[in-house]
Amino acid sequence: MTQTQEDLTSMRKEQVPDRNIAMELVRTTEAAALAAARWMGRGNKEAADQAAVDAMRTMLDTVAMDGVVVIGEGEKDQAPMLYNGERVGNGQGPAVDVAVDPIDGTRLLAMGRPNALSVVAVAPRGTMYNPRGMFYMDKIAVGPAAKGMIDLEAPVEWNIRQVAKALDMDPQEVTVVVLDRDRNTHIVDQIRAVGARIRLITDGDVAGAVMAAMRGTGVHMLLGIGGSPEGVVAACALKCLGGDFQGRLWPRNDDDRRLAAEWGLDLNHVLTIDELVKSDDVFFAATGITTGELLRGVDYVPGGATSESLVMRARSGTVRRIFTEHHWRKVQQFGGPGPGAIGPR
Ligand code: FBP
Repeated sequence: MTQTQEDLTSMRKEQVPDRNIAMELVRTTEAAALAAARWMGRGNKEAADQAAVDAMRTMLDTVAMDGVVVIGEGEKDQAPMLYNGERVGNGQGPAVDVAVDPIDGTRLLAMGRPNALSVVAVAPRGTMYNPRGMFYMDKIAVGPAAKGMIDLEAPVEWNIRQVAKALDMDPQEVTVVVLDRDRNTHIVDQIRAVGARIRLITDGDVAGAVMAAMRGTGVHMLLGIGGSPEGVVAACALKCLGGDFQGRLWPRNDDDRRLAAEWGLDLNHVLTIDELVKSDDVFFAATGITTGELLRGVDYVPGGATSESLVMRARSGTVRRIFTEHHWRKVQQFGGPGPGAIGPR
C-alpha cells in the first residue's frame, strides 16, 4: 500500500462513527417503562419498582458493554434495586460505569401523576462520582445558555439573575423547579423574594433538571435538595444537553456527617458537572412512564403499547426523541418483553 492509500484508509477509519450505546440503552428504559406502567395509579410502589428493575436488568444484559452499576437506586427506602457493584451488560463491549434509575418518581407512578421516568446513563469506567450512602444532594441545574454562569455557593438571587442575564429575560420571568420538601423551604422563600416563578414538584427531580436544560419545557433552572444518585444521573443528562449542574452532599443528621467523614466525603465541596462525571463520552436514555412535560408516558393500545424516549450522547451532542410502537405478539417472537413478562393484566 502506498503512503497515500494508507493515509486514506486511516482517514476513513477515523471518520467511521463508533457505536452509540445509547441506542441500545433505550431498549432497557423502554422495557422498564413498559413493565412499570401497568402499575400506574395502583398505589403499589414496591411492585412497580420490582417490575421495572427486573425488566431493566434483563435488557441491560443484552447491551454490548462490560458495565458496573455505580449509581444503583433503592437503598434509601429498601426498594428493589440494581445494586451498586452489580455487573451488567454482556461483558463484551467497553468497560463502563452505569447509573440506573428504573423509576424516577415511584410515588408519581403509584399515584398516576405526571413525569415518572425510567433512566439509564453510561460513562467510561471510573468516571462517575460515587456518593456512597449519602442520600441527599443540594443541586443547581441550568441549560446551555447559562453554562459556566452559576455557583451553588452564591445566593439564590445571584443565580437567578445570572440565568436571567444568560437568557435575556427578566428575573421575574425565570421559572425554577423545586422539589416540594420542608428542607427546601428556605430556597422557595429566596426565589419568592426575587419574584421569580416556581414549579413545585412532588417528586422526580431528574425530569426537573432535564427540563431546565431543554427548550420548550417552560422551565429555566432547578434548585434544591434531592437525591444524590439522581444528582449524578442528572449531571450525565446535562452533559449530553450542554447544560450545567453543581451539587453538594447534604447530610440529614450527625450520623450522615460521621459516615461522610469515615468515607472521606467532603460535605463543603461543591461538585462540578465534570467532577460528577469526569468524561465527555456519556450516554443517556430515558423513557416516559407517565405523561408529563418532558415525555409522553406509556399508552396502551390494542395488542401493544406506545412509548416516548430521549436518547442522548454527550460527545456528538445528539439528542433523539424516539416514539416507539410495541406489538406484544411480535416482540415475544423475538424474545422481547410481552404482556405476560411485564406484570399482571
Ligand atoms: P424514587 O422514585 O426513586 O423514589 O425518587 C423520587 C425522588 O423524588 C427523586 O426524584 C428525588 O431526587 C428524591 O426522590 C428525593 O428524595 P425524598 O423523596 O426522600 O425527598
